Amino acid sequence: MSDTPGANDNAESVAPASRGSPGDGGATQATGGGRLPAADERDARQTHGPARRPALDEGAPPLIVDVRGVEKIYQTATHEVSALSGVDLTILPGTFIAIMGSSGSGKSTLLHLMGGLTAPTAGRILIENEDLARMSDRARTLFRRRRMGIIFQDYNLLPTLTAAENVALPWTVDGRRMPNEKARVMELLRLVHLEQRADHRPDALSGGEQQRVAIARALLNDPAIILADEPTGNLDSRQSAEIWQLMQRIAREQGRTIVMVTHEAAGGAYADRVVVLRDGRVVGTLEPKGGGDAALVATGYQELAS
Ligand SMILES: Nc1ncnc2c1ncn2[C@@H]1O[C@H](COP(=O)(O)OP(=O)(O)OP(=O)(O)O)[C@@H](O)[C@H]1O
Ligand SMILES: [Mg+2]
Repeated sequence: MSDTPGANDNAESVAPASRGSPGDGGATQATGGGRLPAADERDARQTHGPARRPALDEGAPPLIVDVRGVEKIYQTATHEVSALSGVDLTILPGTFIAIMGSSGSGKSTLLHLMGGLTAPTAGRILIENEDLARMSDRARTLFRRRRMGIIFQDYNLLPTLTAAENVALPWTVDGRRMPNEKARVMELLRLVHLEQRADHRPDALSGGEQQRVAIARALLNDPAIILADEPTGNLDSRQSAEIWQLMQRIAREQGRTIVMVTHEAAGGAYADRVVVLRDGRVVGTLEPKGGGDAALVATGYQELAS
């Protein structure tokens, strides 16, 4: 469980279903109109990726993330640190969730637990009905690589490779020779508006452009879920807004689930829902519904986080 997420930790995926969720303690109620897509819309979207797994209860909307009673205690040489205590959170496919909270509130810990990079001390986390903590190391690594896209604050691009080679890296590392590799890489670079920069190395790209390459790479395997820990932490406000808009577009147009940790209300405002952590607990949620209302998020966040 201690393996570091790498460029190849990306994934094959799942189609979207709907937005909003009942019975989740307010974490992910209906957003974006809260409707379920029509059957033909679901079918059309499902052709985008591998078939969606059936929900445990066919009557309920399928959850992509189901966090129940999660506690995380870090054991150091001298003492225990309680990072999360009793977190419940459910997320439906196709939702863009922002996690906000002050430094040390447990945001990264929660994201790492979702990514199976560390195991909960108590409670359980299901990603597409799979409990990563109960998998073998190898199965967990493969699950992460094939079903998740992970984006880092510092982009994690290989400096000696071009943008296109960095996007293709998960397949290179996996030893996969895909006949459609060039077309797929260019499709992704077009999505992030970098098709003209395919042959450029990271040092010839701005921070925002490097992060867009990293996002394209995270999408290579058509992941169901993208986890991003402060992806705009090194970027100025204009570049940050481009990244948030891109993430919102990926969630809306491709139906992918995105969980993004951010410190910035302006970033949270692009999300469907903001989950606020304080001292390792979910203290509330905000519903900017992707409307970009940073003032609403800033005000609501101040009330919840302090
Ligand atoms: N490996 C670790 N060993 C011991 N304590 C840890 C470890 N990782 C995190 N912690 C502690 O757990 C708590 C939550 O940390 P976490 O990194 O999840 O916070 P965060 O909300 O992401 O903060 P930041 O905004 O500064 O990134 C903090 O008190 C932190 O010191
Ligand atoms: Mg953190």
